[in-house]
Amino acid sequence: MSNEIVVTGASGWLGGHTCRVLHRLGWEVVGVSRTPRIARGQHPRWRWIGIGAELEYAVARAGRVLDVGGRLRELIDAGRSSRFEVTDRVARGLSRTTVQDPVLVSASGYRVHRGEELLATPTTKGDLVFGGFDATTEDTAARAAPAARSAIMRIGLVLGADGGVFPVLRRPFDAGHGVVLGSGRQWLPWIHLTDAVGLLVDAISDPGYAGVINAVAPEPARYRDLARATGDVLGVPWGTRVPEDHVVRTFGGASALLLQSHRLRPDTALACNYCFAHPDITGAVEDVLVGSQAAGITSSTHRSPCCRESPCSVTTPLVTGCGTRAACHASPSQTARRATPSASRTWID
Ligand SMILES: NC(=O)c1ccc[n+]([C@@H]2O[C@H](COP(=O)([O-])OP(=O)(O)OC[C@H]3O[C@@H](n4cnc5c(N)ncnc54)[C@H](OP(=O)(O)O)[C@@H]3O)[C@@H](O)[C@H]2O)c1
Repeated sequence: MSNEIVVTGASGWLGGHTCRVLHRLGWEVVGVSRTPRIARGQHPRWRWIGIGAELEYAVARAGRVLDVGGRLRELIDAGRSSRFEVTDRVARGLSRTTVQDPVLVSASGYRVHRGEELLATPTTKGDLVFGGFDATTEDTAARAAPAARSAIMRIGLVLGADGGVFPVLRRPFDAGHGVVLGSGRQWLPWIHLTDAVGLLVDAISDPGYAGVINAVAPEPARYRDLARATGDVLGVPWGTRVPEDHVVRTFGGASALLLQSHRLRPDTALACNYCFAHPDITGAVEDVLVGSQAAGITSSTHRSPCCRESPCSVTTPLVTGCGTRAACHASPSQTARRATPSASRTWID
């Protein structure tokens, strides 16, 4: 029986945090990197492969893939990504797998602009403002179906202390003068790192996650709510507006992510009974600035079989040396049970 999972972007911020949680849950992580030797030196706990033919082979063998590769910096600087080539290889590997119930969970930053409209489920393409590269990746990932269950997670701005965009956004606040980008009225799809990781992990094991999914917090916030929460926690004024053209000069093509309005609700995650560790922006920002995230702890809260009927508040801190595997978390064996409801089917490749 294999408990392997192939992870692209495993050397990155989001992928690295997710891999640590997967590792603790009993998954055997196979990290994918364009420079596997360097990645191995940095994260010796899991196996590393490159992006050549060995990737296709590893995917066919494992039958389970988390695709969170792609650098935000590359997107900001060049407005493009070569990531879809890797996703394409992943899709080819999945088409060859003999593993039962194969799955591809893919991170996407794709956005459409709809102003005040609340989007409970992701819209189709057409009014794209950002992420043409992610559209390509989404198309490629979608091609993995029906060879595999494909869950394309449109992740909001991930709030964390040690990576992503938030450390950049908080700099003026740290200098004692908080700012609001643009009008501040724009809706900002956001999610705390713990929940981004939790949703990615849950999507691997829960067949309820299929198609394109909003991976955002359940309580939408406007940009000014983020600024207010940050200013309040740090005890600094937060109301100074930064004109849009200045934001564009600073963030390039990615400025649309911060200036356009994307009001999203995570209906699939809620239907799957995922329970968010940080549903509101004030609590999430407080955690990132002065709470467990600030202290370097990545915790993971998941909806689980034990609390399918009611909201679950089980949070297992996954600190170094903790080693806890709560019954409430989705381990590879739970994945096998969930993905194969029929007793005659096994999780053996
Ligand atoms: N952070 C956020 O707020 C956020 C929000 C929404 C979506 N996302 C998406 O989530 C993904 C990861 O974000 P992150 O913040 O963790 O980024 P990150 O820290 O910059 O990590 C990027 C990872 O992707 C790998 N990578 C870079 N170019 C690649 C390519 N062409 N093909 C395959 N892998 C490649 C890198 O691995 P090697 O250098 O080892 O090859 C690295 O491990 C990105 O696709 C991003 O668009 C992030």
